[in-house]
Amino acid sequence: MRRASKRALFVQSSKLFGMAAYSLSLVLCIILKAATFGPVPRIVWEQEEIPLTRFNVEGVFNYSSLLLSENEDILYVGAREVIFAVKSTNIAEKTREAYWKVTDEKSEGCARKGKSKQTECFNFIRVLQPLSEDTLYVCGTYAFQPTCDHLDLNSFQLLGKHEDGKGRCPFDPAHSYTSVMVDGELYSATSNNFLGSEPIIFRHSQQSQLRTEYAVPWLNEPNFVFADVIRAPQNNPDGDDDKIYFFFTEVSVEFDFLSKLLIPRVARVCKGDQGGQRTLQKKWTSFLKAKLICHSPENNFFFNVINDVFILKSPDLKEPVIYGVFTSHLNNVGLSAVCTYNVSAVENVFATGKYMQSATVEQSHTKWVRYNGEVPKPRPGACINNEVRALNYTGSLNLPDKTLQFVKDHPLIEDSVYPIGQKPKLMIRNVAFTQIVVDRVTALDGVTYDVMFLSTDQGKLHKAVNHDSEMRIIEEIVLFPNMEPVQTLVLTTKQRKRYIYAGSSTGVVQSPVAFCDQFTSCVECIMTRDPYCAWNSLQSSCVNIVDEKSSGRPLIQALNGDISRCPDSVAQGTEKTMVYTLKPGSMVELNCIHKSELASLVWTFNNKELSDNNPRYRLLHKGILLFNVSEVDTGTYQCLFQENVMGNMISWLIISYIVELERIPPPLLSTTRWSLTEGNLAPTQVYTEVTHRTTTRMPSTTPFKTSAAPIKNVTSKLLTTLSTATLTELIDALQEFGVEKTSFLKSTSDCSLFIFPIIILLVLFLLLLTYNCYKGFLPGPCLKFRSAMFSGKKVPPSFADCEQGVNEILVKNPNLHTEPTTAPRDTDDVTKPDYGNGNLHHKEDLEKVDMIEKDKPFDVKCELKYADSDGD
Ligand SMILES: *[C@@H]1O[C@H](CO)[C@@H](O)[C@H](O)[C@H]1NC(C)=O
Ligand SMILES: *[C@@H]1O[C@H](CO)[C@@H](O)[C@H](O)[C@H]1NC(C)=O
Ligand SMILES: *[C@@H]1O[C@H](CO)[C@@H](O)[C@H](O)[C@H]1NC(C)=O
Repeated sequence: MRRASKRALFVQSSKLFGMAAYSLSLVLCIILKAATFGPVPRIVWEQEEIPLTRFNVEGVFNYSSLLLSENEDILYVGAREVIFAVKSTNIAEKTREAYWKVTDEKSEGCARKGKSKQTECFNFIRVLQPLSEDTLYVCGTYAFQPTCDHLDLNSFQLLGKHEDGKGRCPFDPAHSYTSVMVDGELYSATSNNFLGSEPIIFRHSQQSQLRTEYAVPWLNEPNFVFADVIRAPQNNPDGDDDKIYFFFTEVSVEFDFLSKLLIPRVARVCKGDQGGQRTLQKKWTSFLKAKLICHSPENNFFFNVINDVFILKSPDLKEPVIYGVFTSHLNNVGLSAVCTYNVSAVENVFATGKYMQSATVEQSHTKWVRYNGEVPKPRPGACINNEVRALNYTGSLNLPDKTLQFVKDHPLIEDSVYPIGQKPKLMIRNVAFTQIVVDRVTALDGVTYDVMFLSTDQGKLHKAVNHDSEMRIIEEIVLFPNMEPVQTLVLTTKQRKRYIYAGSSTGVVQSPVAFCDQFTSCVECIMTRDPYCAWNSLQSSCVNIVDEKSSGRPLIQALNGDISRCPDSVAQGTEKTMVYTLKPGSMVELNCIHKSELASLVWTFNNKELSDNNPRYRLLHKGILLFNVSEVDTGTYQCLFQENVMGNMISWLIISYIVELERIPPPLLSTTRWSLTEGNLAPTQVYTEVTHRTTTRMPSTTPFKTSAAPIKNVTSKLLTTLSTATLTELIDALQEFGVEKTSFLKSTSDCSLFIFPIIILLVLFLLLLTYNCYKGFLPGPCLKFRSAMFSGKKVPPSFADCEQGVNEILVKNPNLHTEPTTAPRDTDDVTKPDYGNGNLHHKEDLEKVDMIEKDKPFDVKCELKYADSDGD
């Protein structure tokens, strides 16, 4: 009796709070929908699906420096205590190696200074730059004693120079660093002391060394990410100098903030700088810095941390374009963005912007404000160009002290560098971009596309392209399956075949820039809308147009997704037809596998579209599940793929299934028994036998693995069954409250995965709450509720009342619990799942049960209980 009432209450409470669960799920759905932000990668390539080449050597870690020599087809890899040379066309092929280990004595000394012998006191290679035709300049942390050397490429041996590497390489492997070799001089930005407290931007050459002033206005706790040279145009009328740009995030001096406010910066120095004669001796006379703005005006997101930069230089570009990847420590944590800048915009800020200066307010506190006074001539921080030369200043050494003193005190420009288009090119949530490289590819329509490759802190690579002002992520590539951050990205540009190389703590990965050959049909090839890929209708293959440069081939490319350009035979002939011969009453899942995360499936049954879910079937993300197959379910099921391309819905057929029934009834059919244990509905036994045969019109050329999975005793399928059944159960309960089943399914279809466990937990919690309330364990409002509930009734309704009603039905309908088909049944099996199973006769019976129940005082779903009571 007690158990019975408890169960009655479970059913009751699940109905009472069905509405609550429904509302909660809607709210959660809205939150989750709002959370999806920015473009979604259309295709996700898992590592086993695509040909990636890997390089790592046992016992070697921290593959943090990559240097590509495209003339020699060699990739140099700087790891911990070793430098490798591998073939750039196949990095798995190692050609040379040079170990550079710290001595035991140095390692001991490092440990004595409190550093870890296991993780830090090694020689982490941080600088790997070409010095001459046959020499590399190499620096390593060398157990907290940065050291540089020359690597002879003929012998692949270090020359044992053992130069002091201070200013070029950090002491601590955890500290930031960047460097660039320009005309035999190394420009580096890193920390200059053991503690990492002294930041420096440094130039090293045999003749001279130049550095930043060690002062807060120059560099304030910077995190350096990138450096590169921007050459002045040849024979430029201004006689301008080449410039080296540095990108970093630092603590701002110009904003008063409660905590340290980080800010992204660009700084530049001139190649011809020689330092000052008296003021700024051996220091930069041309160091200026400004803030980079990466801000989305629409939602007021500020991106204040710059993670990496790539400067796209191409002869066909009017000027180089700076690509920066940003994240945020402000209001929008979890978002990443890409902002692009014109180099001319940066130069303009340095050439004409207002300087900032510090003013002392209230004794010790300093505040940075715009400098409005007179600016000395020549302009402080400017490179030596024809205008300065006309004033008889031929180099930085003879610049006037006034100019030098001014730039020493005012290295910060007030004006900001704004991005092209005044907003990010790309914003995305829940992804932290770590590195960026950009490739240019001219598609068959003659338009040149800039393709961004963005690596993440989870070992992935996103490939994004802007097409008709719509930013798309064509694909996501899983580079490192163990989700480690990608630390370095390098792109080939001159090689015939283009590759991306990515370095991480555990190894290096080589990836092609496109995976065109993964698409085996014209439609798939076109729909990927990848500027690298085109369909070769002669060879019937999807090819990379960059890799195979030869004209006159019949190539089809339509970046607008116009699949009508595909030859008819190919477009129509790729779909498969499979024939399924099933036993009556069995359940089957018809799969429709597609790679696109943006596509939706449309199912037709005998040429009529199947909309929404039905007790007889359930539409899945990549298939359809048919329950209790009977004669009415036989026929042709077709799966169509639909994807929105720039406002046009493009659809095509992927696979057809012909479902037919087996003529002779087999001895054992689908029998599912449900038992209610601890408030959870679980099948105790699912036993279905299905036979199927497949006919394929175009064998082995289907776009992707297309398969149908007949349900056997497979756990995963049981789970599908369970979730379907229990969800249907819940929806039935909700329906009694007038909640539209279809709307519920629609709204949950996207988020049901998230909602389902929440609903289960909620129901369990409510069960507990209600039971305790019913038992009077909970005080106050609960007791009121309890008395209100039962005040109208002398006797609390019990399971027995309900059971009685059911018994009546059982007498009236002796067929109710027997299998309606002619098949013999297992005697033990007296129950069936009470949700729709496609059997009309059976359903009518259940409706009768429902009708009678509704007259019952407690209005409980008895069929649920008797189904369960059988298990006692
Ligand atoms: C070096 O690699 C090891 C192994 O993956 C990793 O645990 C460690 O953090 C790396 N160290 C640095 C400084 O990157
Ligand atoms: C620069 O020097 C030259 C020769 O010494 C002199 O004739 C000229 O007047 C000077 N120009 C300026 C602007 O000082
Ligand atoms: C960048 O340059 C392009 C063309 O060179 C120009 O159209 C655009 O307005 C510039 N943007 C900024 C922010 O300077």
